[in-house]
Amino acid sequence: MTLLIKGALVVDHCGVAPVDIAVENGTIIGTFFDIDPSEGDTIFDARGLICMPGLIDIHTHLSLEVGKYTSADDFDTGTAAAIAGGTTTIVDYISPAKGESLSAAIDRWFEKAQDSRIDYSFHLCLTDDSESTMAGIEHAVGRGIRGFKVFMAYPDRYMMTPLQIMNVMKKVKECGGVLFVHTEDGNEIESLRAKSSEQNQLSMAEHARTRPAYQELNAAKVLYELVRETFCPTVIVHISAAEVLEVLRDASLKGIPLFGETCPQYLWLNDTMLDRPWPESAPFVCSPPLRNIEHLDALWDGLITGDIDVVSTDHCPFNMEDRMENGEDFRMVPNGLAGIENRFMLLQNGAITAGRFGWTRLVRLLSTNAAILSGLYPRKGTIRPGSDADLIFFDPASVTSFNSEDLFSGCDHNPYDGMQISGSVAVVLSRGEVVYDNGILTAEKGRGQFIPRSRVKPDRLWAVKMEDFPWAFCQ
Ligand code: URP
Ligand code: ZN
Ligand code: ZN
Repeated sequence: MTLLIKGALVVDHCGVAPVDIAVENGTIIGTFFDIDPSEGDTIFDARGLICMPGLIDIHTHLSLEVGKYTSADDFDTGTAAAIAGGTTTIVDYISPAKGESLSAAIDRWFEKAQDSRIDYSFHLCLTDDSESTMAGIEHAVGRGIRGFKVFMAYPDRYMMTPLQIMNVMKKVKECGGVLFVHTEDGNEIESLRAKSSEQNQLSMAEHARTRPAYQELNAAKVLYELVRETFCPTVIVHISAAEVLEVLRDASLKGIPLFGETCPQYLWLNDTMLDRPWPESAPFVCSPPLRNIEHLDALWDGLITGDIDVVSTDHCPFNMEDRMENGEDFRMVPNGLAGIENRFMLLQNGAITAGRFGWTRLVRLLSTNAAILSGLYPRKGTIRPGSDADLIFFDPASVTSFNSEDLFSGCDHNPYDGMQISGSVAVVLSRGEVVYDNGILTAEKGRGQFIPRSRVKPDRLWAVKMEDFPWAFCQ
């Protein structure tokens, strides 16, 4: 049976066209200018709607345990929230517990993801360059995981030295993977935190003061040298500091495969929120921290210029009870913000409504580039024959209001509470199945499938930087 989607304005990474889309068995079989239906076809009348490839979020932390706390969304609620926000594929970070083997952590994450309502994949966090880590990377690749994360921060738990990171890079490159890096200078942060502690300055504003933009830049510069040396495809994740964009620009000009990701919180929220009286400041603690308006403006510019390649969420919310448990002490508040349910509406508002850039660029930032950098393209991130029929339909004539009560997310608050944005996510299809229809979630828990990732071909990654998308990707 064929599903014919008729009348939408279709946006892909290659442009915008008023075409019909034909879907069979969950797969796109073609796009046509005004196709006549055959007997037995199901018609979806999408007139007035804008259709895009399902969005991909390559940075989530569902059921992440941080000390005694667990992030507020699991694969059930987190993927419900994702769908309501137009996201049809997530890549979640596997974070091994202290002492847990990489293979055991992978097993644990596959188990958690049984509840997923949408398709998913994984990145794997690493903490050293030991022989068992190298074997763990090979094991992960065998199980369809090709994204790995290392940290230049958190000395007590995750931080690696530049030499350790270089060794990991060589292995990841050999395995056809991509490295994702938390680029903050852990030693500098530790010394600034020690000073704050000595002076008993523990407010949430201190969280940002102890993680200044210059330390994010310094870490990015060290990383740049490592990528220059190894040529391992690498993404700087959750960029918050404007200065990092210069490092990315320089890498791009020299053909060094260093790419950039930012998140909605660094585009929409700012450090004055950390100045709010306790506990109103508690929902805004994340690392890297929220920064001032100049950084926000520069990051928006970076989305236009192509210095930044992808906008993911780093979705890692904690409920207010957890955030407030230890009182006003920035060192004790679990880090991370929600974003999975609001990413698309926030970005389309900042892009289209504000007139910064158009739909094609938006699709690339929220879907296609994410698919390319994660080895999910062309199964995901595009509307072309053979791709999964993951499609979202945006209704420009309606309005979306963000408030904490209406969330599909398990989190008890929304950092964007009270905002009203024109337009809404009307309908979402995942592999051809309607999973969301005007506010009603119709996706069964557990229907999501694991998507194994293909070997990343370094020369193909440059597609994300090209203003005109290479025609071979548009066939
Ligand atoms: O504050 C954040 N970003 N928490 C999530 C963990 C990470 O470093 O991405
Ligand atoms: Zn991080
Ligand atoms: Zn993260």
